[in-house]
Amino acid sequence: MDRRRVLIDTDPGVDDAIAILLAFASPEIEVVAITAVAGNVGLDKTALNARRLADLVDRPVVVAAGCAEPLSDPVTEDSVVHGRDGLGDLEWDEPRTILDPRHATEVIYDAAVEGPLTIVAIGPLTNLAVALERHPDLESMVERVVIMGGASFEGNVTPAAEFNIWVDPEAARRVFAASWPIDLMPLDLTHQAYLVDEDLEEMRSWGTVIGERCSGMLEPYAAFHDEWYGNRDVIMHDAMCVYELVSPGAITLQGVRLAVEVAGEHARGATFIDRRRALADSVQRVGVHVDNAQFRRFLLDRLHSLTPRS
Ligand code: BDR
Ligand code: CA
Repeated sequence: MDRRRVLIDTDPGVDDAIAILLAFASPEIEVVAITAVAGNVGLDKTALNARRLADLVDRPVVVAAGCAEPLSDPVTEDSVVHGRDGLGDLEWDEPRTILDPRHATEVIYDAAVEGPLTIVAIGPLTNLAVALERHPDLESMVERVVIMGGASFEGNVTPAAEFNIWVDPEAARRVFAASWPIDLMPLDLTHQAYLVDEDLEEMRSWGTVIGERCSGMLEPYAAFHDEWYGNRDVIMHDAMCVYELVSPGAITLQGVRLAVEVAGEHARGATFIDRRRALADSVQRVGVHVDNAQFRRFLLDRLHSLTPRS
């Protein structure tokens, strides 16, 4: 089988972790590298978490650290959504996977030079924007960029802005302005995809390291959702990007034009998703619908099949 080469740019993050493990569990793709960016927590923690996740699977993968700050406003504190450490505050051994000495932007560029590349971007878009700045030819080299971010109807940090875009709107503007094909998975889609308590119980019942780690990370994430939204459904934002790649057609996509508000008293970080019919064939698309029952079964089966590192 011809496996699509995929680089994951990420700020793990519990839902990032599930997305990354789904990618490792999927024979349709080859994860060539994981690049960390500051977002849910600081870069030191997201890079460590990326190494922890790489350690869970039975094959080596390049892990590199990228940008510690967004292009403009620095982030002053970690988000509490994913625990203090970003992965639900479990105990982990010191990872065996070591950080690649290259900056994430160089790992991204080198991976694109080496062959056809799809980028999955599930954190703030700083690394991608800086990579474009340093290597302007990158936009014509990358096959496709699948991004979790934005919202048409309601943000999750402010009424207008979704977290990944809100952290670094200038970077998002640069990435959206590039000529590469973009598939965006906004909150309007990702809120349709969630795991429930029964799924966490199923993971525990496997009696495997993967089941134990996944359910352990998801438990405090479910508690956060309960506090925030009033129910324990754990929204699988970032996994939507990987799901789109490994199960083509499972997510309904629509051709659009993407823009980001970088100014404004209330609207900084808002995404504007132009859905007019004339844009049906655009190289920019957004996910609009996913069947959650189908997704949950797919995800659980894939995670259950994952061979952990011995
Ligand atoms: C996005 O923000 C992060 O907290 C999640 O990992 C996801 O990438 C959802 O708004
Ligand atoms: Ca994320």
